[in-house]
Amino acid sequence: MKAIQADITTLAVDAIVNAANESLLGGGGVDGAIHDAAGPKLLEECRHLHGCKTGDAKITRAYKLPAKHIIHTVGPVWHGGAHGESESLANCYHRSLQIACEHGLRTIAFPCISTGVYGYPADQAAEIAVRTVRDTQRSLPCNVDVIFCCFSRRALESYLRLIQNNAQPAPAPNSSPATGSESGEA
Ligand code: APR
Repeated sequence: MKAIQADITTLAVDAIVNAANESLLGGGGVDGAIHDAAGPKLLEECRHLHGCKTGDAKITRAYKLPAKHIIHTVGPVWHGGAHGESESLANCYHRSLQIACEHGLRTIAFPCISTGVYGYPADQAAEIAVRTVRDTQRSLPCNVDVIFCCFSRRALESYLRLIQNNAQPAPAPNSSPATGSESGEA
């Protein structure tokens, strides 16, 4: 997995993920940008999907976008954190990766789902995203390369820190933490 700062509509990957709403009929934010760039045929296809539940995801073609597919997922609206928001957000990443795997897709780019209009605290959402993607990649029978496509520098720095921390091998069991004296430091 990696994180970049970019406009997700410009990415030539197998699938970009759209942070949609349950109607799947377009909106603002990244949803609006994707529909604008993909063109009107996307909305035509979405009309036949009959919506999407929060935490679930559905796949369409990408039309005029450089990506091959769009996986539309619906993130939770933030209501303070005691209404199952973290589980729903995790499900968005899990279901999107499952669908990518079912369709034999190799590369997928996620926006920072729910952290715009839906108000999810960005750092908490990033932690859920990185943890869920890591756990799902381990459980899927296929390799899907994941790009976290951040729209702001702040979001990018948050993801880079999390990915770096996740990359650190867990300390070996019974290993004593390194002390200054070992490295000759005063
Ligand atoms: N590329 C990448 N990321 C983008 C882009 C873009 N072109 N445009 C916006 N973003 C980022 C935002 O900065 C935010 O970090 O996508 C993230 C998600 O924000 P929203 O698009 O507002 O999505 P969300 O918070 O999940 O709210 C979904 O908003 O647009 C409506 O129809 C949508 O009702 C749904 C709701």
